[in-house]
Amino acid sequence: MKNFTAVSDIENLQEIIKKALYIKENSHSETEKGKGKTIGLVFLNSSLRTRLSSQIAAQNLGLNILTLNAAQEAWNLEFADGAVMNGDTVEHIKDAIEVLNQYCDIIAVRCFAGMKSKEDDVNESILSQFQQHAKVPVISLESATRHPLQSLADCITISENWKEERKPKVVLTWAPHIKPIAQAVANSFTEWMQEMDVDFVITNPEGYDLDPNFTKQTKIIHNQDEALKDADFVYVKNWSSFDEYAAIPEVKENWMLTAEKLAQTNNGKVMHCLPVRRNVELSDEVMDGENSIIYQQAKNRIFSAQAVFSEILDEIN
Ligand code: CP
Repeated sequence: MKNFTAVSDIENLQEIIKKALYIKENSHSETEKGKGKTIGLVFLNSSLRTRLSSQIAAQNLGLNILTLNAAQEAWNLEFADGAVMNGDTVEHIKDAIEVLNQYCDIIAVRCFAGMKSKEDDVNESILSQFQQHAKVPVISLESATRHPLQSLADCITISENWKEERKPKVVLTWAPHIKPIAQAVANSFTEWMQEMDVDFVITNPEGYDLDPNFTKQTKIIHNQDEALKDADFVYVKNWSSFDEYAAIPEVKENWMLTAEKLAQTNNGKVMHCLPVRRNVELSDEVMDGENSIIYQQAKNRIFSAQAVFSEILDEIN
């Protein structure tokens, strides 16, 4: 694997899930693999899980780790090509990436959607600069349109929790939120579920359909109760409107996942990438209930990252 920014970078999804599950049982089996190599973890946005799970994964592989919380600690970055930098920005992203090339063997970056320009976000205006200027492999720690390490952890978690012969029914359900949230997690989960052997359905209110370039042929149901029927897995996530970009059109019905709603499923396991707004997106009862596999999902972020870092090291060693 040369880079990791989308499911298309994976050669064989089932093989990498198998590898991650092996790593979960044998997390110190490759402690020499990253020896003498450095990974730069660059965060342009906040993080708890991605930062810590990436650090654990890199440590388990013997990598040196440079973590840069760029929004808080670095110079104020300029992203526009040809900018006359006579304002607040101090360092151009191109120069920052060229310097990271001197220090790192792998660059991992978190760069959320700006949620201001649909065109910039759809075209991954920041990640694309890393892809263009990095001379070392680039890993996405969540970009404007995707969160691939999260999605791999989601696939690992579903695989661990499904032992039946038939395909599980997996429902991605929109949930309420208090402010506009990017579509990256939902897009990414959709893209990865399309590669899994599952019966996948998306449910969201009218006006909240995801980018059709991600949903493709996936069934979208605007009635949550209908979609939840017989679900084996329910993935709860908020996202803002794609059509009316980053807007949050009013939704009159209650879309929060409650125990009552969950009772319509096939004893469905509940997933969420976290952080979650309790009693807004899902109820305490669901979050703390026995169907929740949300903390297991968070734990699997380590093995998702470690499997990917290990594959990248195979390429550069
Ligand atoms: N799920 C996830 O990416 O969590 P963080 O934003 O805390 O990294």
